[in-house]
Amino acid sequence: MSDDKFKNIIGHAKEYGFVFQSSEIYDGLSAVYDYGQMGVLLKNNIKTYWWNAMVQLHENIVGLDSAIFMHPTTWKASGHVDAFNDPLIDNKDSKKRYRADVLIEEHIEKINQKNLKDIAKAQKRFGDSFDEAQFIATNGRVQERLQKIKAIEDRMRTALETNNLEDLKLLIEDEGITCPISGSKNWTDVRQFNLMFSTEIGSVAEGSNKIYLRPETAQGIFVNFLNVMKTGRMKVPFGIAQIGKAFRNEIVARQFIFRMREFEQMEMQFFVKPGEDQQWYEHWKEQRIKWHKNLGFSENSYRFHDHIKLAHYANAACDIEFDFPMGFKELEGIHSRTDFDLKAHEKHSGKKLQYFDNEDNQNYVPYVIETSIGLDRMFLAVLSEAYQEEALEDGSSRVVLKIPEFLAPIKLAIFPLVKKDGLPEKAKEIMNLLKFDFQCFYEEKDTIGKRYRRHDAIGTPYCITVDHDSLNDNMVTIRDRNTMTQERVAISALKSIVEERVSMASALRKL
Ligand code: GAP
Repeated sequence: MSDDKFKNIIGHAKEYGFVFQSSEIYDGLSAVYDYGQMGVLLKNNIKTYWWNAMVQLHENIVGLDSAIFMHPTTWKASGHVDAFNDPLIDNKDSKKRYRADVLIEEHIEKINQKNLKDIAKAQKRFGDSFDEAQFIATNGRVQERLQKIKAIEDRMRTALETNNLEDLKLLIEDEGITCPISGSKNWTDVRQFNLMFSTEIGSVAEGSNKIYLRPETAQGIFVNFLNVMKTGRMKVPFGIAQIGKAFRNEIVARQFIFRMREFEQMEMQFFVKPGEDQQWYEHWKEQRIKWHKNLGFSENSYRFHDHIKLAHYANAACDIEFDFPMGFKELEGIHSRTDFDLKAHEKHSGKKLQYFDNEDNQNYVPYVIETSIGLDRMFLAVLSEAYQEEALEDGSSRVVLKIPEFLAPIKLAIFPLVKKDGLPEKAKEIMNLLKFDFQCFYEEKDTIGKRYRRHDAIGTPYCITVDHDSLNDNMVTIRDRNTMTQERVAISALKSIVEERVSMASALRKL
């Protein structure tokens, strides 16, 4: 997708009340966004789709809503105080700050682009007889670049793993990486920067009590493991699901709602018997990709990406990547976290966080499979895939959001043809009938054509028009968002027609 299209999507999201820059009247706050009147409806529908798929459809998964503030030791135990860092470097001329690893990755991408250019050129030259694999294997320049990329990647990985910040800086210097703004190579040293926001709890007189805004919701689940297991009489394997805000002081925060400082996560921790973790990891990979593909978007928009460098707590991890407007990027993470978190909390709290297995007659600390998806990223995925600029047969054009119907903010728009002759009253009567079942929207301003366009732009699956005949025959014209076809139907049939297409239950049944 082109940059222009991404810009159009961002503009569209603002114009139609989906996403606003936070505190815009004060020129905004970087990487913080608000959801408008349409955005909040779409966001809530995505939450419901996730929540019901997890909690409603699984007898052995229950929900939780834990606090954003947690005891500070939580973050010591989880490793976030010591290791939730980004390596940062500043350019002394532009005064711009960058993530050192991102600078290096962008440099690698530039080398990679040169190879892609050579491949494309060769393809043009050789036409149908072109064998890409053979060209890559035998072309000296391409091979040289591939070796260079590998050497840079290996060196960066080692430097990150061993926290060798000097070598990270040296690597940037050796590669001659310049600041994209100033063009200079005048770099500071690399420093580790913790991504957690902190604040203080209690009065100053009580002494300083530094606490953190949670950088993930998962730890609220781990510290409540025992509470939920006991009060819910849960038996392993079981899961705890939670939706909530998380906060990260992202330094390189760009790309709209893709990387934010305040965002929402939908996380599920699934507690399993040690030794059964691999099979459950595969199970949740399958379940989660099915949940995504059930939206009906292109199959090619998704791919799995296995983590090469595993976090210290994981024995397997992958991302579900989505083809966002800026290319394939992480949408969801699926991690096999072993017993790392529960054991760390046992150690720091002195409380036993174990399960007694009646069958084996033994206690153990369960292993955990985690599925973790960013709600805002999911919102962006839906918005960018749904956004379509269509040229119509009559020479005009429209922007339509082909949002899966069960997620659409408004399910049914109700229009009186004119603002008189009792049509508004009849239209409101229909609205009062159906508003208990669906999110409806009443509109009487402008021509019907303009009203259709407005609802195409926010993704409303159905619009109905009440005309003079409706007063006598109790029928209305229903118009379909995707096909733009219109049909005359009885008012009494409306509920079942709309229900069939917008029902969350039908979508869940396909999982
Ligand atoms: N508990 C595991 C965890 O937090 P993560 O990969 O750091 O793992 C999980 O985050 C998901 O949260 C990501 O796949 C992404 O969708 C979302 N996410 C992470 N950082 C984000 C940010 N700054 N802005 C928006 N979403 C973010």
